[in-house]
Amino acid sequence: MAVKVGLIGTGTVGAGCLDILRNHHDDFAAHYGVDLEVVRVCSRQPDVARAYGYGDVFTPDYREVVNDPEVQLVVELIGGTDAAHDVVATALRNGKAVVTANKALMATAGEELFSLANESGVELAFEASVGGGIPIIGPLKHSLTANGISKVMGIVNGTTNYMLTQMDEHGVGYDEALRDAQQRGFAEADPSADVDGLDAAAKIAILSSIAFGSRVTLSDVHAEGIRNVSTTDLEAARDMGYCVKLLALGARTPEGIDVRVHPTMLPLSHQMAKVSGVFNAIYVVGDAVGETMFFGEGAGAGPAASAVMGDVIEVARHMVMGVTSFVGCTCTRSLPIVPMDD
Ligand code: HSE
Repeated sequence: MAVKVGLIGTGTVGAGCLDILRNHHDDFAAHYGVDLEVVRVCSRQPDVARAYGYGDVFTPDYREVVNDPEVQLVVELIGGTDAAHDVVATALRNGKAVVTANKALMATAGEELFSLANESGVELAFEASVGGGIPIIGPLKHSLTANGISKVMGIVNGTTNYMLTQMDEHGVGYDEALRDAQQRGFAEADPSADVDGLDAAAKIAILSSIAFGSRVTLSDVHAEGIRNVSTTDLEAARDMGYCVKLLALGARTPEGIDVRVHPTMLPLSHQMAKVSGVFNAIYVVGDAVGETMFFGEGAGAGPAASAVMGDVIEVARHMVMGVTSFVGCTCTRSLPIVPMDD
């Protein structure tokens, strides 16, 4: 059965999605019974849409996608929180399911957007918002729901982990390491979100909200990035048997939820110390399951597109099955946020 898709954004991740669709469209139809038909493509780069054969359905105006009665499922890949908010909110109000990779949006406006999704009885899926290609939202929302989760901790920003690895293991300077990460398609359009820890803060806010069933937003997270970490610091740490990683932590404490991001010295023997380059790792502790760890490439076209398209297929399957009321995630501020001591 055909599910009509409107794609908004054909940058690194959007083009990665079109690659996956080109390679696997027929497999999705054969294996999952969903014929994903891209009926609108919105982009600032008409050449990309044309290169993938979508020149005829191209528009530079996202409103033509979210207001198009033919579109059933909108994929938002433009990032940021201004136009993206309008895209997602309007699409949901118009009764369209939405798949997004937008962590900043989900970490700031998640509650409002889930309400809109609930009101319209459509899905809002966001696996790609955390950890690139690593399945982590799905496990937290499904396989681990029987647990009381006490901790979610990880390396959740590929750009800074790549930079720290280049600086530490190859003696590359900060600026060169950042340029390299940008060229490889890891960094955000404005890489200050990566290096200042805000990208990781948005991700740990999302993970903490799901893990602890209590709304945590970006502004709740104490965030410190890696701007002040130099190659000299990394050398000194290594001489003492440590490395420096940008860790994101969400923990349930007797006082409430402790949630933060900052550079952390880890013994070289620590599992997280071995997570290098663009790889991310997320460690989750549950009272029944014990310790679990999720690992994979945290940024880049293929990994992010893998997560986006996984959501697209799942949501499309639910549409085909007529499961229209499955939304998946609602939570209010049931636990306080522990204040950070300066
Ligand atoms: N800029 C992000 C990162 C992209 O480096 O992790 C994936 O969310």
